[in-house]
Amino acid sequence: MQDIGVYKQAIDRALAEQDLPKSPERLYAPINYILSLGGKRLRPVLTLMACDCFGGDYQKAVPAAMAVELFHNFSLIHDDIMDQAPLRRGHQTVHYKWDLNTGILSGDALLILAYRYFESYPPEVFSALSQLFSQTAIEVCEGQQYDMDFEQLEEVGKDQYLKMINYKTAVLVGAAMKMGAIVAGVDQVQQDLIYEFGRSLGLAFQLQDDYLDAFGDPEVFGKQLGGDILSGKKTYLYITALENADTNQRATLLSLYEDGAMQADQKVNQVKALFEATGATQAIQKAIKQQTHHGFSQLQQADLSEQAKAHLADFGRALMSRNV
Ligand code: IPE
Ligand code: IPE
Ligand code: MG
Ligand code: MG
Ligand code: MG
Repeated sequence: MQDIGVYKQAIDRALAEQDLPKSPERLYAPINYILSLGGKRLRPVLTLMACDCFGGDYQKAVPAAMAVELFHNFSLIHDDIMDQAPLRRGHQTVHYKWDLNTGILSGDALLILAYRYFESYPPEVFSALSQLFSQTAIEVCEGQQYDMDFEQLEEVGKDQYLKMINYKTAVLVGAAMKMGAIVAGVDQVQQDLIYEFGRSLGLAFQLQDDYLDAFGDPEVFGKQLGGDILSGKKTYLYITALENADTNQRATLLSLYEDGAMQADQKVNQVKALFEATGATQAIQKAIKQQTHHGFSQLQQADLSEQAKAHLADFGRALMSRNV
């Protein structure tokens, strides 16, 4: 089994070897731009790691891993348009640096480039990978729509929230791992077990993302802090705060979220104070741990060596304490 750094290098190499056309400049430059800004490469690393853990040749999983990473970057360009986000990976978002139409079209092209990576696989593997990918991609769209629908609602239940993040984030993490298992050639039962482990990590990952959006360190987080609060997102923090709030806190939180005229910093700070005062901050930390541990119990059922299980669990633990 390889070190995480080895998987990451394999992805970086494949990204560098991508030979995109030079023109039209405004179609390809944003693609090169977003990919060159880095990012954690979490999903493609998981694809290679899953393949390796199941005894496959991880290098054979590189095209599938690339498809996942390109899809992820496509989803980020469009997500930043929908969330009106100015900052991504510490730099201007594509639609801020260029414009809206450039973000839409370069995102579309990136999605198509992602699919092309499956063309290098033999028919049966191609078919399994592309079916999983299409199903996952449509679910991500569903999750993104729920996320936007919820902006317009005053209150959203925890179960609705969990369904939303399952689709917008977790299924892609599950699929990334399942693709590694498909390339390794293991049976459906093992594929599904690793998918479920990935999905649990993905749920924990989005909870942590919600936490960092409010409480991350502006020096390292790379995105606009408080962006979720400013766009009225119904995050786990918000939902828990409303659940736990007393009458006054509830009224204050609702009116802060409604207030379009208030100065941004002031609004973010007041909402964050309520997240703290209602215990939502502690609750989200607890939920992140629980979700990750649930993933570990699913991992135990998979037919993997103890060493492979430990390797995957270490990765899950590291994700829990990330600050980016
Ligand atoms: C951001 O994903 C989008 C979410 C699903 C929260 P990442 O946090 O993996 O973004 P990068 O690729 O590392 O920048
Ligand atoms: C993003 O959720 C999910 C997808 C990109 C599909 P967020 O909107 O929370 O992601 P960030 O915080 O902008 O990275
Ligand atoms: Mg966003
Ligand atoms: Mg979003
Ligand atoms: Mg976020």
